Amino acid sequence: MRDVGLDSVLRVRVPAKINLFLGVRGLRADGYHELVTVMQTVSLYDALEVGLTGPPGRGHHPAARKHMGIELRVDDLDGLPAPDDNLVLQAARALGSRVGLTELASVAAEGPRTVIDLSKRIPIAGGMAGGSADAAATLVALNELWRCELDREGLKEVAAEVGSDVPFCVIGGTAIATGRGTSLAQVLCRGSFSWVVCTAGTPLQTAEVYRAWDRTSRPSEVEPDAVLTALRSQDPVALGAALHNDLEAAAFALRPELAEARAALLDAGALGAVLSGSGPTLLALCADPEAARVLADRVRADHSDVVVTRSPAGGPDLERGPAWGAGRR
Ligand code: C5P
Repeated sequence: MRDVGLDSVLRVRVPAKINLFLGVRGLRADGYHELVTVMQTVSLYDALEVGLTGPPGRGHHPAARKHMGIELRVDDLDGLPAPDDNLVLQAARALGSRVGLTELASVAAEGPRTVIDLSKRIPIAGGMAGGSADAAATLVALNELWRCELDREGLKEVAAEVGSDVPFCVIGGTAIATGRGTSLAQVLCRGSFSWVVCTAGTPLQTAEVYRAWDRTSRPSEVEPDAVLTALRSQDPVALGAALHNDLEAAAFALRPELAEARAALLDAGALGAVLSGSGPTLLALCADPEAARVLADRVRADHSDVVVTRSPAGGPDLERGPAWGAGRR
């Protein structure tokens, strides 16, 4: 952590998520959509470092305090929401109010201050839960830093207040979700799968895609069984055929070029290709890492960024260590 003078910090590496199956069952009374979705983490990570500064000799239990300054520093601000909309700060506030830290000031006055350094690699507003992953990393890190002592269930409850994808990002791995996307059950996945992640230059807002779904689509009854069987039997060909996303019609109505790009991925040899979450990121499944590298080279020119990844990628990974210092990452 630069410029703060801390020797020791907590560091969390947190993976992006993809939806292997996303079924939209309809619009709910609370304005959200009822979902059945199978999610998995992929090896594309953001990293977050947190540390506590303050007057020496006042190191009593951080969660017993009422006031706390909080400062978020990001390595690349391009495309990130304004601080008040930022999911990292929303997560910090939600955890703070859960443990009685009711006055989290974003500009630190005197007294203790939590500093958060965020390094972004997951595409912003790309349908890969980048903001939700950062929020999950914040919850995991601050739970430790502030000694809140919430268990995973407690963290998932706070996570659901922050966003629909955040509870999954707290756990990672492979899971099936229902409701708003926050009721989770872990799913068996044998082995790993190779993906080419194709990012578009212009992001899509999730709420806009769901509004387009209201106009273009009807509730579907497609079930995720084929995806679950393919994950259990480590069968990339079956998984490629089973990939499904009910938000595609809506996203393709907003961005017709995505439909062509998805077809081009299949023509270029993908076992399956699907929109990731609400898009605009597209995912192409390949038989193995080598096939993914070959496909990535074939389609690189068609996208703003193309990355080879594997899934599943576990969950947030917390370690205590020396600060990054000037030569960070
Ligand atoms: O929960 P989150 O804040 O991440 O959701 C962002 C937006 O996506 C919501 O405001 C809503 O418009 C839409 N959404 C939805 N149904 C869901 C999840 C998200 O309509 N299950």
